[in-house]
Amino acid sequence: MPKLRTTETGHGTREHPFRGRSLAVISDLNREERLYLYRRVRELKEAHRRRDRKALDSFRINDPDFGIYEVFLEDSTRTRESFKNAAHFHRLKFSEFNASSSSFNKSESYSDTFANLIGYDNRMFVIRSKLEGVCRYLAETTERYRRRHDLAGGVSFINAGDGRHEHPTQELLDEFTFLEDLDWNNREIHLALVGDLYHGRTVHSKVHGLGLFENVTVDLVAPPELSMPRPYVEEMLLQGFTVREFESIEDYLSHQDPTDGQPGAAQIARLWYFTRPQLERMGERVLRRAAELRAAITFDPDDQKRLRENTIFYHPLPRHREHPTIPVSLDDTRLNGWERQSANGWYVRMVLLAMLAGRIGEDYPGPVGPQPVEEEEFVRDVTSETRRNGTDDSVQEKRRYSEGIRPIRDGLVIDHIFTGAPPEKIRGHLATLISVMKLHGRGGEWVSTGSDGRCKGLLFRPGHPGLEEQAVRKLAAVVPDATVNLIRDGEVYRKYRLGHPRRIEDLPELICRNEACITHPDNGEQTLPRFLRSRDGHYVCEYCSRKHEFTEVWR
Ligand code: NCD
Repeated sequence: MPKLRTTETGHGTREHPFRGRSLAVISDLNREERLYLYRRVRELKEAHRRRDRKALDSFRINDPDFGIYEVFLEDSTRTRESFKNAAHFHRLKFSEFNASSSSFNKSESYSDTFANLIGYDNRMFVIRSKLEGVCRYLAETTERYRRRHDLAGGVSFINAGDGRHEHPTQELLDEFTFLEDLDWNNREIHLALVGDLYHGRTVHSKVHGLGLFENVTVDLVAPPELSMPRPYVEEMLLQGFTVREFESIEDYLSHQDPTDGQPGAAQIARLWYFTRPQLERMGERVLRRAAELRAAITFDPDDQKRLRENTIFYHPLPRHREHPTIPVSLDDTRLNGWERQSANGWYVRMVLLAMLAGRIGEDYPGPVGPQPVEEEEFVRDVTSETRRNGTDDSVQEKRRYSEGIRPIRDGLVIDHIFTGAPPEKIRGHLATLISVMKLHGRGGEWVSTGSDGRCKGLLFRPGHPGLEEQAVRKLAAVVPDATVNLIRDGEVYRKYRLGHPRRIEDLPELICRNEACITHPDNGEQTLPRFLRSRDGHYVCEYCSRKHEFTEVWR
């Protein structure tokens, strides 16, 4: 049991709903938790406006031994500085990690680096990195370190932007600002996302973030080279968002005349969220067309008259000093929502730190944590069903599962492998099956054509001693939809039909195809990915959220 510590500020007990939690992706805080956070941010902002010291103090962590570390492996102004200022507000021990002169340059791993820093009584890490999924990963590996050394519980990892993946604290301050402008009503939102939707992690966090609102219409305004990656669009549709796509601001504005006042989905949005073209992440081919791409997503001040009344522009910033997509001449107009948005970042981060440190949040009444993954049974023992059916399947099977002309007396037969897939795909997967399940040895495997003309894979291993339940479950991760027959004395004594497991994990043959993922072998962390089945039957990496077809998750 790790030792628990209680300090004067009250952190260190187990019962607090937020203490010691991490924020790797926006959905690590559920909807009710985020609404609670926004309510507290409103209070803090108001207390700050009134200079109400007593109210402000009720948010302060106020503990010089409580360590918070900023680790920025990519450039930043607002995120880094607002966290730093939030830490000063809280009167904490604040440190900045100097990555450029650290042992990262001697090829030290992330997990070793951070384990060290935890040893010096640091309780929070704010991390920005090119690698995706770092915070989820470190929250797991450092937990093991903490146990080994019997250290106090609750170390939080806060994602301050990981590659092209997510930027959850930006999403928090964006949502807070939208609510501020929608009279705190989260019933509906109609938002235009304009700019580099391909690279922009702030808009990727919107895919789950906007689920805060009951009714969501999103207009995506970007040329094809900068358009929102398809998996994100599909995810928005799955969540019931109305999604429309436009190739440029001009295309969007001319889509309909906003002055005709027609309500409903045909109208353009009143809230516009701009993102800058992230040239530093683009390849040569796209860069050659930079000027043209920029033009498609730059707002022309002459177009103000074509906007809806009370339109507000947002931008996570920075904007380019020579080529701003929101021209500087608009700073003094009522379109300017981006400056208040940016200032809100400080309040939001102060409250977030207070919650994760356990200073506030005790009174939060709602459900805690992200929605749990519901496990489903995915292995069905159909031995008795098959027998009862009277179709005498076992007799047919005895006939079918033969080794050459001799029926198998004892062993294992896996049938219906990837039925309907092209033969070369089935063959490739048979090889994966043999390697993952260590089914090398005597027997055979082949692709055959069923009575319905579809191809399927079949593998048999005479003399195989049979599989334990755990091994059958593992098999479902490799060959879902297959049937497994265990044969003894010429009889199928056990027959299973395999379904699709919710999670695939703990297998050395797994790989996440995203080269920026912390688990990718090129990144040297020597760790394995874990996949969760999505509602549309894909497997999503639990670190970087990359969606995979089932066959892609295998090396
Ligand atoms: C963004 C980021 O770094 O993701 N900025 C920010 O944190 N406010 C957006 C960007 O870099 O364009």
